[in-house]
Amino acid sequence: MEYLHIKGKQKIKGEIRVNGAKNAAVAILPAALLTEGVVKIDNLPRITDIDKLVDILNALGAKVSSSEERCLYIDSSGVDNFSPPPSLVNKFRASYYLMGVLLGRFGKVAIPMPGGCNLGPRPIDQHIKGFTALGAKVELEHGIVKIKAKKLRGAHIYLDVVSVGATINIMLAAVRAEGKTIIENAAKEPEIVDVANFLNAMGAQVIGTGTDVIKIQGVPELGQAEHTIIPDRIEAGTFMIATAATRGEALVTEVIPKHLDPIIAKLKEVGAYLEVGPDWVKVKGNNVLFPADVKTFPYPGFPTDLQAPMMVLLTQAPGISFITENVFEGRFRHVDELKKMGARIKLGGRTAIIEGGYELVSAPVRAMDLRGGAAFIIAGLISRGETVLAGVEHIDRGYEFIEERLKQLGVNVERKIISDEVFPGK
Ligand code: UD1
Repeated sequence: MEYLHIKGKQKIKGEIRVNGAKNAAVAILPAALLTEGVVKIDNLPRITDIDKLVDILNALGAKVSSSEERCLYIDSSGVDNFSPPPSLVNKFRASYYLMGVLLGRFGKVAIPMPGGCNLGPRPIDQHIKGFTALGAKVELEHGIVKIKAKKLRGAHIYLDVVSVGATINIMLAAVRAEGKTIIENAAKEPEIVDVANFLNAMGAQVIGTGTDVIKIQGVPELGQAEHTIIPDRIEAGTFMIATAATRGEALVTEVIPKHLDPIIAKLKEVGAYLEVGPDWVKVKGNNVLFPADVKTFPYPGFPTDLQAPMMVLLTQAPGISFITENVFEGRFRHVDELKKMGARIKLGGRTAIIEGGYELVSAPVRAMDLRGGAAFIIAGLISRGETVLAGVEHIDRGYEFIEERLKQLGVNVERKIISDEVFPGK
């Protein structure tokens, strides 16, 4: 088993270039299957979620090649398989985008139900509602979702919940449908705009992404395209929060500052110093931190993906802070582990009450999801002692070689191997 060994009381100091956005990349790679042409996708993060998707694309018959780091060419002309191997898609949440894509390309798809995950129940009823409105029949047989349509036809779809996944998935299925699709109450995340820009580069006609009404005029086929993935606002936010928590100083480059507005605003409120340039953000920690009230919401609200890292920062702000998780009800699994490190947190429904201003102390902890894992790294960096963090595979899903990235920021985190049986605290 791999784990991270984190020396406490370290301060971030340095400069880091932000990688391509995971949540855009995990939709854009499957979207390449919507065309018979060759596409070039650049600025892909080197994370395990992308490795898994490349394996799936290969298994479906696509030719995936690379000439430079972070850049892939995908030739889907030979794809004739609408049923991704269960062994590759099982437990891989973002595999749900293969539904929209294969339905859009072949009019049918058979895929294992995307597993629940560590954020509590994550239904896909809104995805299904969209496919059904487009004329597909959806059946669940022995855990396999089978979706079929003689012909996909544009439809008017009103989403009951604001969902990133459903918005993208319906868009993917609708771009080659006959006629016009309108998605109302759509999610507005920048990653959705990025996916639409890629689809439009291939010849699709999607307008309105970034607002809550998306209009798609179906086209019979798509062509070749080149696309560069947008910067990952969640990775940027993680480094920014880590800098404020360690009272360090960092220049985070190649970002789109507008995407970081809710994070910049909250960090200022907590007392950090921020300077914003055209494509960079400078963060300087402040020894005096203030408590805050954080509520997660769909974009442009404070991102749920930064809720756990923000919680660690607030443990250092003397006074009472509140975090209300409005997006995923089960997204508090990091709380018990943080308490082991001395954090004073009480949970009441969707709200965490944090009594801040107390020193964290190292403990063996285990990441149970990606962003919770990032939070424990920040907790390890500020705590007294040396933290041993297991569950690194969750972190590798979305942060590229995290220990190397942190080294660029002047802090020392080591990846080590240990037998599972002797992991402390197991
Ligand atoms: C995406 C992101 C994830 C982020 C989340 C919210 C990817 C691969 N993942 O996840 O990092 O935390 O957006 O910003 O992009 N819901 C339903 N029915 C549905 C779909 C969703 O009830 O059919 C609910 C979910 O349970 C959740 C809320 O809607 O409470 C938002 O989920 P959604 O935006 O769909 O999240 P994901 O797309 O899974």
